[in-house]
Parts: sequence; structure tokens; C-alpha cells
Amino acid sequence: MTLVQPADTRLAASVDRSIQLIQTGKAAGSTCSPDLAKGPWEFDAGPVAYGPGSSMGDVIPTGSPRQGALPESYKTASDAELHDRIRAAKATLGERVVVLGHFYQRDEVVEHADFVGDSFQLANAALTRPDAEAIVFCGVHFMAETADLLSTPDQAVILPNLAAGCSMADMADEESVEACWAELEDVYGDLTATDAAGRVPVIPVTYMNSSAALKGFVGRHGGLVCTSSNARTVLEWAFERGQRVLFFPDQHLGRNTAKALGVPLEQMPMWNPRRALGGSSADELLDARVILWHGFCSVHRRFTVDQIAQARIDHPGVQVIVHPECPMPVVDAADAAGSTDFIVKAIQAAPAGSTFAIGTEINLVQRLAAEYPQHEIFCLDPVVCPCSTMYRIHPGYLAWVLEELVAGRVVNRITVSDEVAEPARVALERMLAAKPPASVAPVDSGRDAPADAPRSTVEA
Ligand code: 13P
Ligand code: SF4
Repeated sequence: MTLVQPADTRLAASVDRSIQLIQTGKAAGSTCSPDLAKGPWEFDAGPVAYGPGSSMGDVIPTGSPRQGALPESYKTASDAELHDRIRAAKATLGERVVVLGHFYQRDEVVEHADFVGDSFQLANAALTRPDAEAIVFCGVHFMAETADLLSTPDQAVILPNLAAGCSMADMADEESVEACWAELEDVYGDLTATDAAGRVPVIPVTYMNSSAALKGFVGRHGGLVCTSSNARTVLEWAFERGQRVLFFPDQHLGRNTAKALGVPLEQMPMWNPRRALGGSSADELLDARVILWHGFCSVHRRFTVDQIAQARIDHPGVQVIVHPECPMPVVDAADAAGSTDFIVKAIQAAPAGSTFAIGTEINLVQRLAAEYPQHEIFCLDPVVCPCSTMYRIHPGYLAWVLEELVAGRVVNRITVSDEVAEPARVALERMLAAKPPASVAPVDSGRDAPADAPRSTVEA
């Protein structure tokens, strides 16, 4: 299967194109920010905001990598010229380079990707090309770090725009998590001591959407990484070894998954890093089963129960599928919730004539709508509002990093230090080894695919 569109449908599906039509008054609809009409380089050197799109209100933490100025010729080039330059550079580089494109990338970038998929699939896709000198990751910073963790030391992982972070990932930094851990030690005592059942007081679990430093943290403290596809299996693994879980950075994925496992909401206190004991009492923390970090995705929190109700009125028989980063009431009101890969597979498997309202990033939803014209597919949120940081990978940056490679220069390399990489790989390996307990019934709701379900990488 391919998610790359032929030229005509690509134009129709392109979020850039939708935004241009809305901004020029040629199409109905609205965007979440008029800033979307501006070029990305106007924001990338700016002081505080993430840029146009859903997470524009989130503040970039100091110390985040910032993109340097892009040479002028890339800013002034037309779309067609950039397209041709990217193709020419890729043709020159041949097997020396592999370009990875996340599902949330704009079509003008995805069309050049050798692999299109979710964050974990793409990191694995890089493993299939050990001879490529460079892995150009069209996604966000934590994804490029994960690719660096899994690739060979000789391979350079390149993020075309260093300002493409993830506002949710940045909501949990190493210093705050270390401080949290020390406070939990005050409440629970020795965090390595086991009870009669052999369980430690708390197991840390980090979502894939987090820095390599946090993956290293959980690796050092007996914890592991999860993705939106295997969060349930990972929590079950953790509950076998710990009395409770510290889950970061996404409160919604943690809450939705723990609730599906039967954990009562009152045993899921939130950890606000700006407050003493995260804002809970010691008794509440002693009673806790899952401590949820106060993080969220600005894209997925835009989806509401009212949007679902409206979709059901306007489209009787509609199937509503949302990403588990959506707030709990939205996941509860949907017909199914699952990772980006789950959403793609559900649409692929549906009989012709199905109608879907999808609660995830608009680039993926519009691409699926163009790819599967036999269905009616629309975004739950009628406002065109891409993930602002994914949107920072403009074709101009892709052309630049590729042409630099042609000239023998590696720019924007993402490197994880050995000190961090070693425990981070342990956390990833634990995730890969985690299996659902034999006593657990197979999950069929789509709210969580089994950990060992096939995770096919989509080759473009
Ligand atoms: P995936 O892990 O499904 O690629 O999701 C990444 C992401 O950023 C979701 O918001
Ligand atoms: Fe991060 Fe949300 Fe964008 Fe995914 S969609 S990269 S979680 S801000």
C-alpha cells in the first residue's frame, strides 16, 4: 500500500493548499491561526512560540535546539522548484540516504519519503537501511533521537528543521522528573525495596513522545517506554513489577489506558511539577495506582464531545475514531481509539461506503480522505489546524539538508550521547520484550492493539 498521492489528488489533499484557499477567501472554512499563511522561517528564529498551528500557545523551553537561518535561495524558491531540487538531490544521493516521513507531515514532504508511518515504525524502517549514510527524519525531535538510538553509529540522523520539537514531549524535562522522583522517594521510602509480591513502590513509564534523556531515566530506574499502540501491555508489565506507575508526559494516554484496565480515576492523581508533591497529599500518593504527569498534546486536546455529537447528527452511521492522546470524555464518546497506525488500518479494512470522523492531526486525515475516495472521511475538528511543529518541516528545509549532503556536509545532525543512549536502549528493549500476560483476554475494542500485533511499516 502507498500513502503517497498522485499529483492531482496530492494538491487537493494538501493542508498547505487548504490553508491557502481559506486565507485567500477561495474556500469555506477557517484555520486556527492566520499566521499559517506565513513562511515557517518567519517563526523559526522568533523568540517564544512554537509557530502556527495547534501548539502555537505552548512555550518552547529554553535550551531547546533552535534552527539557524535558512539560506535565502530556499526561502524564495517556488514549490515546483523545491520539488525538483529535492528529487534531484535524492537521485544523486541514491542509496546513501533514506528519507522518513511521519503520517502528520504535509503532503509536499511526504511525497519525497521512502517510508511513511508512525514514529516507531519509522525508527524501525531506518533499521532496514543500515548502509544508508544519512537518515533524514521528517518528523519531530524525539523521533529523530529514537532513530539515532536504533541506528548504527556511522549513520547520521538529520532533522531538517531543528525547531521541530514536540510541545507535549517538552512538558516533561529531566530535571522536573528527577525532582518528582526524589519527592516520591520521600513518600514511599526506598524505591528499590520490594513488597511481599516482589513489587517495587513505583515503575516509571515514558511515552515514546519524550526526550532521549527521559527514556534514559526510565531505563535507569527499572521502567520502560510505551507507544500509543502498546500502552496497555506496557502498563500491565509495570503492574506486575510495581505497586504503581509514574506515567509521563501525556496525562490523557495514561488516563485512557489505565481506565481501560479498570484503575479508578480517584487512584490516578495528576503530578503538576510546579507544586509540592505534584499537588497531591502524601496519602493520595500512597493510594495512587497511576501518577499522571501534567502533559498533553495541543493538537489532540482540540477534539471535543460536542464535535462527536455533531458528527453523529450530521452523518448517521458515522464511525468516530480518535487518537488516545485525546481527553478521556472524547475517547469514551468515540467508537474506537487507537494509534495513527490503528486509524490507518481501520480505514483500510472498512467496507466501501463507510463514513469516518477522525480525531487526529489534519494532514493524516486529509491524506486518508484522498487515498480512500470509496469512504467519506473527515476531521472531527472542522478547523484546519496542523501540528505546528510537524509543520515546521517545510520542503525548503528538506531541500537544504539534502543538497548539503550532496555537497558532502551533514547539517542538523541529531546525536544522543552514549551516557543517555545506553539506558534509553534498555528502556526500549524492555518495551519490545513486554508481552500481555497470558491471563489477559485479547483486546478487541481498538483502544489498544496487542503489543505483538504486526506493525507494518508503510513503504512509499
Ligand atoms: P505516533 O506514535 O502514532 O506516530 O504518534 C506520534 C504523535 O506525535 C501523536 O501525536
Ligand atoms: Fe507532539 Fe501533539 Fe504534534 Fe504529536 S501532534 S508531535 S504529540 S504536539
